[in-house]
Amino acid sequence: SNDPVRALAHTNIALIKYWGKKDEQLIIPYTSSLSLTLDQFYTETSVRFDQSLSADKVEIDGAAVSGKSWQRVHDFLTVVRQLAGINAAAEVISLNHVPIAAGLASSASAFAALAAAASRAAGLQLASKDLSRLARRGSGSACRSIFGGFVEWQRGHDDTDSYASPLQQTGLKDISVIALTVESKPKSISSREGMNRSVTTSPYYPTWVNVAQNDLVDIKLAIAANDFTKFGTISELNAMRMHALTLSAAPDFMYFNGETLTAMNLVKRLRHQGIECYYTIDAGPNVKVICQQANKPQIVDAFTKLLGPKRVTTLKAGPGVQYL
Ligand code: DP6
Repeated sequence: SNDPVRALAHTNIALIKYWGKKDEQLIIPYTSSLSLTLDQFYTETSVRFDQSLSADKVEIDGAAVSGKSWQRVHDFLTVVRQLAGINAAAEVISLNHVPIAAGLASSASAFAALAAAASRAAGLQLASKDLSRLARRGSGSACRSIFGGFVEWQRGHDDTDSYASPLQQTGLKDISVIALTVESKPKSISSREGMNRSVTTSPYYPTWVNVAQNDLVDIKLAIAANDFTKFGTISELNAMRMHALTLSAAPDFMYFNGETLTAMNLVKRLRHQGIECYYTIDAGPNVKVICQQANKPQIVDAFTKLLGPKRVTTLKAGPGVQYL
């Protein structure tokens, strides 16, 4: 049996959202997206291929995994095996490092770390572009977690040209993301199911494809110009435009709950007081607040009063995937 290969990847938050697949099998999106890789929350994964194993073994956070989650990892390992021309089963051990109750658990860091560890354990030496393409097959947003800082996922047309790369622009270095954990029941509609329903039933979907493209052009200009106001405004708008696709789907659905709305209102109130901040929200009720370092203490203070200290986590830009 071979030595295990260990890799670590951080999660990322999309400022221009990925929401909809043109090809569900290969995970080719309808639109390009842009994210910031975050520090603190990461997944650490070790993979070992072993001829003597009768089936893939998957352990996540100390517990053996079966059913749907096992199937998803197994399917991903099958892609890796095909690429490497091997057929041995694998042992996968994965640990998520999440700040207590940060509500940031994500398939992005999981599949980015798995892609890195599994490909190398299978004997492949992938360039980062090809590692991003591989991670994409596990979860779309994972292709962005291969890189640190601001990252753009070019939608491309097929498997060969749909991958992420880091932004060349160097503006807006001091962005902070304040992750708010709002009261959450298990999420009712996965992003996979939610984006499928949006694509197939929202009459606004074709408009989203055009609007998201413009938002992406504009946010890159904002980053290059070091224009935080423009950056934050576009991020918030783009997130709400994504959520408009859920509200306009049939049957309609919504990721916000009452606390989500309370947090959104507080962001707007702070902004009216001259404390500049913006929000973005993914496929769940948690809110991420975007700000610059100078305003961070006041914003953290306001949300700590609202939610208590355990539900407020401050993050910064983080690095790309690394081998351990
Ligand atoms: C709202 O990457 O989790 O976070 O490709 O089906 O695994 P799959 O979806 P996933 O979707 C992320 C959706 C989002 C927006 C984003 O991260 O761009």
